[in-house]
Amino acid sequence: MSEVKLFINYEKLSSYVANIVEKQLKEKPNSTFILPTGTTPIGLYKELVKRKLDWSEATTYNLDEYIDNIDPEQSYLHFMMVNLFEHININSDNVHFPKKEHDTEYGFNVDLCLLGIGGNGHIAFNEPGSSFESETRIVDLTEETIKDNSRLFDNIEDVPTQAITMGMKPIMSSKRIVMMANGKHKQRILDKAMFGRLSEELPASILQLHDNMEAVYCD
Ligand code: PGA
Repeated sequence: MSEVKLFINYEKLSSYVANIVEKQLKEKPNSTFILPTGTTPIGLYKELVKRKLDWSEATTYNLDEYIDNIDPEQSYLHFMMVNLFEHININSDNVHFPKKEHDTEYGFNVDLCLLGIGGNGHIAFNEPGSSFESETRIVDLTEETIKDNSRLFDNIEDVPTQAITMGMKPIMSSKRIVMMANGKHKQRILDKAMFGRLSEELPASILQLHDNMEAVYCD
């Protein structure tokens, strides 16, 4: 049974998810996490930085990374450094990004997986049509995703067209999943993912089958 918690604003949503992360770290200092990039988690990362938590024993796996020749400042590693890692006491040896295809070690059975959802229902870069059994692999991004991502680049031609992404299989192996969606433009797709028919055309819909998953939403 899917659950969607509604929040009155983005700050409250971010602070609710930060509470979950804080509790996880306090109960189990060597917790493992899957972390997203994108605009949605920026408020969460800000809040986590403010809280000065002890990340010294934690391990993180990012969901995805561009693989084209891109300006390093546009990489997701750079995004994570600027928004979180440079401000917390995480051990850099414990920070991971997907590198190898079909890596069966990467990001499996983590304690807490945090996700965003794309406008077309993608999770990480598992675009519509991705198998529910998919593993970590290199993917072509859809036109819609390239267009969505172009807001972060000067020209649409600069937007990478390929990425390496964690598959749906490792994501689903997480012990707990929290998916965040911010803004009215995400409402319809979130609703469809959480309460509609399961379909590989809407990769996030498989999350309905996870027994410890919640989505959080604000307008
Ligand atoms: P956003 O992206 O957080 O920038 O909306 C989410 C996603 O595409 O997964």
